[in-house]
Amino acid sequence: MSPKIWQIRELLNVSSRYLKDKGIENPRLNAEVLLAHQLHMKRVDLYLNFDQPLTEAELFAYRCLIRRRVGHEPLQYITGVQEFWSLNFAVDPRVLIPRSETELIVEQALLFEEGIALENRPVRILDLGTGCGAIAIAVARELPHAVVWATDISHQALNVARTNASTHGVSDRVFFCQGDLWGAIPRGTDGFDLILSNPPYVSVEEYAALSPEVRDHEPRLALEAGDGGTYFLKRMIKDGHCFLKPGGWIVLEMAPWQTEQALDLIAETGKYGQKRRIKDYSRQYRVVAAQQLRN
Ligand SMILES: C[S@@+](CC[C@H](N)C(=O)[O-])C[C@H]1O[C@@H](n2cnc3c(N)ncnc32)[C@H](O)[C@@H]1O
Repeated sequence: MSPKIWQIRELLNVSSRYLKDKGIENPRLNAEVLLAHQLHMKRVDLYLNFDQPLTEAELFAYRCLIRRRVGHEPLQYITGVQEFWSLNFAVDPRVLIPRSETELIVEQALLFEEGIALENRPVRILDLGTGCGAIAIAVARELPHAVVWATDISHQALNVARTNASTHGVSDRVFFCQGDLWGAIPRGTDGFDLILSNPPYVSVEEYAALSPEVRDHEPRLALEAGDGGTYFLKRMIKDGHCFLKPGGWIVLEMAPWQTEQALDLIAETGKYGQKRRIKDYSRQYRVVAAQQLRN
C-alpha cells in the first residue's frame, strides 16, 4: 500500500489536536508556526496553500518539530527566532527568550534620552545582562548616535548577542564585555547617561514553580537570583549611581512585588533625585527608574 499523502489542512488539524491532548497551550498556533517554519513559508501562506501535499521528508521533519514541542521545548528555540521591538533576534538555549514586557525598558530609555540629547554629544548607554542583546540592539537601532555597552556574565550569551548586533547593523556602536555586572566595564570608561537592565529576578521558590518551557529549557543563570530574587536589583541600585553621569537614569525591570522595595532602596541611598515606577501592558508595575542627582 502506498503511504498516505498529507495535505497542509489535514496535517494542521491532526497536529493541533495532538498538541492539545499533550497539554500544550495554544495548540493551533504552535502547529501553524512549526509547519510554516518547516516549509519556509509565512503562516498566512499555509492558508493560501491548504491543499498542498507534503513530501515524506517534510512530513518526517515536521513530526520531529512537533515531538520537540511536546517535550515543552519553547517554540522560539525550535524556530530559532523571537521578535522584540519589531526586530527578529536569533535565540537558542544559550540565552533567555526576550519578553514583550521588556520593551518597556526600551520605551523608557527613548523618553529619558530626549532630555540628554539636547547636550549635543553621543548618548552613552549601558545594558547589564544583555542576553541575546535585545535591549542594547533595540536602543542602538533607535538612537543612531548612541554608544552602547552591553555586558553579560555568560560568554555564550554574548556570542549570540554579537551575531544579533551584526544582523541588525549596529556592531560598530555596541561594545560587548564579559563579566559580573560593572566588573565587565574596562577601568577608566566614562560614565553613562542611561543604565538599563532586565536582570535575573526570580526567587529560588518561584523558580521551582515556573512552567517546564522556562524552567527546563531557558538558562537558570538568566532567571534566578538570591535574596528572594532581589540580589542583582539591590546591587544595581546601591552602586548604579557610581557609573551614571549626573542627571543620568537607571531603568530596571523587576517583578511587580519588588517595585515598592526598589523605590525604598533608591530613597535610602540618597544618591538619586526623581524616581518612578511604570506599569506594563497588563497594568502591573514592572519597571523602576531613578535619576542620578545633578551636581
Ligand atoms: C533576565 S536575562 C535578560 C536578558 C536580556 N537582557 C533580555 O531582556 O531578554 C538576565 C541576563 O543576565 C545575565 N547575568 C546573570 N548574572 C549576571 C552577572 N552577575 N553579571 C552580568 N550578567 C549576568 C544572564 O546571563 C542573562 O543573560
